[in-house]
Amino acid sequence: MPEVSSVPVLTIDGPSGSGKGTISALVAAKLGWRLLDSGALYRAVGYAAGMAGLDLSDVDAVTRCAEQTKIRFRAAPDSAGTRVWVNGHDATDELRTETAGAAASAIASIPTVRQALVQLQLGFRKLPGLVADGRDMGTVIFPDARFKVFLTASAAERAKRRYKQLKEKGLSVTLGGLQREIEARDSRDASRAVAPLKAAEDALLVDTTGMRIEDVVAKVLAVVQP
Ligand code: C5P
Repeated sequence: MPEVSSVPVLTIDGPSGSGKGTISALVAAKLGWRLLDSGALYRAVGYAAGMAGLDLSDVDAVTRCAEQTKIRFRAAPDSAGTRVWVNGHDATDELRTETAGAAASAIASIPTVRQALVQLQLGFRKLPGLVADGRDMGTVIFPDARFKVFLTASAAERAKRRYKQLKEKGLSVTLGGLQREIEARDSRDASRAVAPLKAAEDALLVDTTGMRIEDVVAKVLAVVQP
């Protein structure tokens, strides 16, 4: 068995709507590496806590929920991406909503909740390699990652992308409302005491505003395969 630390990791951190999810999935597919969507874990815990009727500010109850929630990633039957199962229920669609994003951001500021998810995340590090998508992948979870990228984009552009994504899924949203929600979530994620959203010192910063997806993918791939 190889040493865990010899397994290459590419961390892709950044705020919501920076393109992390799309870029991470495409880069992982190109490299043939595994993918960790860490945001889905926080969304799943927020969702499970909501389903259990918990008060999201009840630290002990939400921490227990994070420790006990069963989260599974499964390939969709038609190979159209990954489905996320929470406590035996396919919650993929519910997890994508802004409500789930806001609940995730609320419970993600609780240090013991973050702690409860560490081992699960480290378990994704397997050969031939891992692309880890999140907020603290390069700073906290995989500080020794060989490759680190931090994606950004203007708040207006990020709101536009989310608007398009959610509309395509048939959800009813407004652009102005989304931009306000995104800015509120960013400021909470960036100002929290534990694992705040920030670029690792050794990360390559890529501003994706106005860039085409394939150009961002090429830039990120060049970090791994110069
Ligand atoms: O990336 P995504 O939008 O799915 O993340 C949802 C929320 O989960 C973020 O707003 C953030 O508060 C939290 N999160 C986190 N650390 C991560 C990934 C997500 O705190 N590594």
